[in-house]
Amino acid sequence: MALEENATEVLTPDFDCYRVAETVTGVRSDGRILTLDWSDGRVSRYHAIWLRNNACDPATFNLDTREIALSPLDLPEHIGIDTCTLAPDGTVAVRFTPEGHDARFDAAWLRLHDYSNGGRTDDAAVEKVFWTTAECPEPPSFDGSDILDDADTFTAFLTAVASHGLARLRGTPADPDFAERLASRIGVIRDNNFGRIWNVRVEPGSGSNAYTSLELAPHVDLATREYQPGLQVLHCVENTTRGGRAMMIDGFRVAEDLRADAPEAFRLLTTVPWHLSNRAADSDYRWNAPAIVLDATGAVAEMRSIYFLRGPLNAPFDLVEDLSAADRLLHARLMDPQYRMLFDYLPGDLMLFDNRRVLHGREAFDAAEGRRWLRGCYLEREELESALRMAARRRRAGDNR
Ligand SMILES: [Fe+2]
Repeated sequence: MALEENATEVLTPDFDCYRVAETVTGVRSDGRILTLDWSDGRVSRYHAIWLRNNACDPATFNLDTREIALSPLDLPEHIGIDTCTLAPDGTVAVRFTPEGHDARFDAAWLRLHDYSNGGRTDDAAVEKVFWTTAECPEPPSFDGSDILDDADTFTAFLTAVASHGLARLRGTPADPDFAERLASRIGVIRDNNFGRIWNVRVEPGSGSNAYTSLELAPHVDLATREYQPGLQVLHCVENTTRGGRAMMIDGFRVAEDLRADAPEAFRLLTTVPWHLSNRAADSDYRWNAPAIVLDATGAVAEMRSIYFLRGPLNAPFDLVEDLSAADRLLHARLMDPQYRMLFDYLPGDLMLFDNRRVLHGREAFDAAEGRRWLRGCYLEREELESALRMAARRRRAGDNR
């Protein structure tokens, strides 16, 4: 239901649906801060300037797009609260000074954006589960036979990718176009110089070990790019070979274990950039990044550990030996069976995995025995996250009906 159609709700600065069990029981202001008392005893505080910026009305927002219409310079320098009242429908009415601007706020929206008590959490965020093979011996798997028409299974599949970094569909159509159809259902496919949709099969003279029957060491794809693809789809169209088992490794689990067991090696691996360089005859992609990339909070954000696409190391002179020793520690873990999930691809199997978290590879196979054909493509993590938020939004909207 569109919020505009619900007479008991005021507009909010987005298109989401907000519901909470708690209600506002008291409203007061000291002229600068609005204070709300809630039915569960919580006390929430909001600055006048914060409220004024979020007044969802035509003077503040373009209501068609919910983009903000006012620049910070369009508002008075000192904004205060003249009056505040709790309306009979549970919304909160505020009159601001010196404008005399009136606004109404949805109580549930205020509750879920209560920055005085820790701020808003992303209610579609999925807790990450780091795994060893003992903890996760095979990919979380889902029935793929009706996946494009089964919204609940589709959401469960995406949720597993968000938590474990990988998930498998079994029994999908062994159709060369299926990888594209499935990926398009998630979001926008990322094009690249290997093609928007690409094949992994033996192709002599193709210039990449991926297109042979050789073993492929664990790696992430396109680490030579400024922005590594966040997600990778691999769909098995055909496999009549023996061997060639897929391997997948939770790079975040390896990184966190290194952080705990070898903190100095971890520090070097997360701070000293390697030179990453593709070696193609017709393109020249390069990037510099540590083998393990942290985000601003210190959490592991991505793995850039792909030794076979490294150019000459250009590190501070005194760090070269210690960094190389740390890199051996990292690669010893990446080769350790306790981290290495191994499984066979059957026709109709589709893997979706976080290409910046999960390293993938394969064992060698005998190309004389038969054919092994995977179709793949990339997307960004944000496509998965958006799809999960939209699923959560639809669920909440369904609750309203
Ligand atoms: Fe790959």
